[in-house]
Amino acid sequence: MTALTRNDSPLAPATTAHPTLAERYQALLAGTSSDTHHWLAEQLAMACELADDLPDSLDQLHAWSARHAAQVAADYAHYLEQRAQGAPRQYFTHRAQALWFLQQVAPTKAVDGAWLFSALRHWQDPRFHGLIRTYLEELGDGDPRCNHVLIYQRLLSRLGCLEPVSLDDACYLQGTLQLALGACGDDYLPEVIGYNLGYEQPPLHLLITTYELAELGIDGHYFQLHVTIDNAASGHANKAISALQQLCPREGRELFYQRVRHGYRLNDLGTDTPTLISRFNLDAQLLAALEHKRLFGQFMHADRCRLQQRTVNQWLAEPGALPAFLQALQAQGWIKRGMDPAQSRWWSLIEGPSAPMFGVFDAYEKQLWHDWIANGWQAPLRRVPPGSWEAALGQEPPPATRKQSMNIDTLIAQMAGNRHALPDGLQATRTYLHVTGLAQEGPH
Ligand SMILES: [Fe+2]
Ligand SMILES: [Fe+2]
Repeated sequence: MTALTRNDSPLAPATTAHPTLAERYQALLAGTSSDTHHWLAEQLAMACELADDLPDSLDQLHAWSARHAAQVAADYAHYLEQRAQGAPRQYFTHRAQALWFLQQVAPTKAVDGAWLFSALRHWQDPRFHGLIRTYLEELGDGDPRCNHVLIYQRLLSRLGCLEPVSLDDACYLQGTLQLALGACGDDYLPEVIGYNLGYEQPPLHLLITTYELAELGIDGHYFQLHVTIDNAASGHANKAISALQQLCPREGRELFYQRVRHGYRLNDLGTDTPTLISRFNLDAQLLAALEHKRLFGQFMHADRCRLQQRTVNQWLAEPGALPAFLQALQAQGWIKRGMDPAQSRWWSLIEGPSAPMFGVFDAYEKQLWHDWIANGWQAPLRRVPPGSWEAALGQEPPPATRKQSMNIDTLIAQMAGNRHALPDGLQATRTYLHVTGLAQEGPH
């Protein structure tokens, strides 16, 4: 898979010795990364400096997880109560902000589960079965309808956001960590277990995100799915604790658990979700999108097209003139902010199949325009129940497992990174389930 490859604004200049995170991410996906152990050790050294909320001993983990889940439930109930009393959305002021967020976290979602990859080789050891089952569920057991990476990609497709966007290098940090843990898992088993323990505890922001996406007419099935599948009672969160308890050796428990804690803290490197969402700036995003278009659009307009005595080509020729251009669109009455965008002439130029500028702006850019013009005006809500699109994909059973005489290492290699989401990878997953005897049976 080659999705999400573009990166126009790296935080650090790329050199062969110090690739950007985006480059490292791509190299890990391609299996060509060379100094992954060293890089992971550096990240762990940073994580060591952080605090964590884990209990002192392993036997307290179930109680700790239950407390965490109860706290999240209470905080979410409080959130819902506030919303019922008329409080505004807490995360997504506009739909554009939600689309922006979904693109920012796409590099992480495109490798969902990758940190558990190395567990696959230990299918003969029952202590690994919890981790393997979690990984296989991330892969949807090879059913494209249930593969988390594909569910996210379909979400982006439906929203018109599948084309890679320019992302800060930091957006690749968590995805790169996940791929690195998957690649080095045999040497970093305690850290993988710790990372898994942290990642699989359903957080409050997952619940709020799911709720607000649905409110904005965006199918939050991907997020809803994680509320249920990661649950603390029997889901991935619970399996994460059992795996730790089973794999922690009798000798050297303390050291093992210390390393688990460091892996757990890797979850806190980078930007947390609420902070990331709050960084969205509608005006800045619209101007950035326009600036990008300016370079392509400046000779494309007829000179009879004038705004305040200047041709559109003249407006677009001048760097830095775009804020004034937006002002001019308003002064000329082409844009009426604070109203339904359908009332603005400008909107009719860019939206709809017969719009003269049809296709100039992509779905996200049009949403920026829409929300900037609306400026607080709200269309009636059209809540989408999570999963309505996925349900529309049909309920027919997945294709039967093809008998293959492939060796297990070849199968496992096809399930790495996010190759498992390609047709061969999905087939390999189904065959793996078959030959290892780890396919989960339904009720009889
Ligand atoms: Fe997942
Ligand atoms: Fe999960």
